[in-house]
Amino acid sequence: MPAAIPPDDHLEPIEQVSVEELRSVQLDRLRWSVRHAYDNVPHYRAALDAAGVDPREVRELSDLARLPFTTKETLRQNYPFGMFAVPREEVVRLHASSGTTGKPTVVGYTRADLDVWATVVARSIRAAGGRPGDVLHNAYGYGLFTGGLGAHAGAEKLGCTVVPVSGGMTERQVQLIADFRPAVIMVTPSYMLNIVDEMERRGLDPRASSLRVGIFGAEPWTDEMRRAIEERLDMHAVDIYGLSEIIGPGVAQECVETKDGLHVWEDHFYPEIIDPTTGEVLPDGEEGELVLTSLTKEAMPVLRYRTRDLTRLLPGSMRPMRRIEKITGRTDDMIILRGVNLFPTQIEELVLGVPELTPHFQCVRRREGNLDTLTVRIERREHVGTEVGDAAGRHVADLVKRMIGVSVAVEVVEPFGIERSVGKMRRIVDERPRD
Ligand code: DLL
Repeated sequence: MPAAIPPDDHLEPIEQVSVEELRSVQLDRLRWSVRHAYDNVPHYRAALDAAGVDPREVRELSDLARLPFTTKETLRQNYPFGMFAVPREEVVRLHASSGTTGKPTVVGYTRADLDVWATVVARSIRAAGGRPGDVLHNAYGYGLFTGGLGAHAGAEKLGCTVVPVSGGMTERQVQLIADFRPAVIMVTPSYMLNIVDEMERRGLDPRASSLRVGIFGAEPWTDEMRRAIEERLDMHAVDIYGLSEIIGPGVAQECVETKDGLHVWEDHFYPEIIDPTTGEVLPDGEEGELVLTSLTKEAMPVLRYRTRDLTRLLPGSMRPMRRIEKITGRTDDMIILRGVNLFPTQIEELVLGVPELTPHFQCVRRREGNLDTLTVRIERREHVGTEVGDAAGRHVADLVKRMIGVSVAVEVVEPFGIERSVGKMRRIVDERPRD
């Protein structure tokens, strides 16, 4: 059993208000945010005018549905500072996405925005079971990526002793965990697996480590992965969600007591779920694309941002604020194979049930003739021979056929044969010719 979580006696007042009170705060803030965006960002003024929406007509939260969406494309078109609602001199921090295709997207923060961000991350760490005074090992990447600095500021605000390791140099990560004895680690789940592999390679027992809680996010991961990590490290594994366009990590967080989905910090970020094809708003409980609106951001207010992340909204549980279910995947990571929709998370669920294979795998997309194919490339474990490994691979292909209903090829490679990530794992490798 992982170590017990100390009681949490630092709840913010807003974490305890009734749903009605929360809705009233949200409405006031929404009206401010729409007005602020309209008055100060030419793009929003043009988009709202074109949609025939006067910001003064936003009288109910449901009026939000009348506003046009914002997409990554909108941000790219206004690169670099066109979406800012304050003079550039008031922007005290910039972050940017990696921009694997085309221009990166740039986001900016005023001093007050940084304070809100630190507050929601501190709240997230507390919900995850971190407490003031804990040593916190932060292995999210520092730099233009929001993970490192976002987690850092929140941990400091909560009163943790932060170890700002950033990603990479896995041997050193293991050494520092052994020496500084952190109670909390913040890192992508895929990089956590590399750290555990390294602990074992050095003959250390991961279950004997000082870690009590891991706060994992920045990429999709499944409940099966949670169980595997909790078992290997004898710790709690909880999910943190966020995206740079909205603020960074700390948009939503799972509570360690319940591990039942992530509470959206709705006092700052208003969630909607839409049908990704029609754009229609779906009722709570239905699965679709998450759309977020910032309620308090000064430097870069965002109205109805299409995240491309697929989930559904659930009522509050440990906190009154609504939850999102663990994210299945992104609309752009959906693989359509002979008419069947498939996400890497579905493969993850199946691979984790096969003990001869490691959790490191990739989905390789190829084209044969006119047909798209998928090869799942997985590693066998170190003590497993080629034949047993190949049989386990055939078993995975069989499971995929039975559970997901589509044929895939499985290629079992030798231990450490799959590229390791130090941040977000590249689950999909697209080898199809570009046309
Ligand atoms: O990944 C912010 C972050 C850092 C979140 C550290 C959590 C921890 P971006 O680089 O802008 O920001 O990527 C955002 O990553 O739209 C999702 O597709 C994915 N993502 C983030 N958290 C989760 C999660 C950061 N918990 C994009 N589960 C988002 C699934 C996630 N996907």
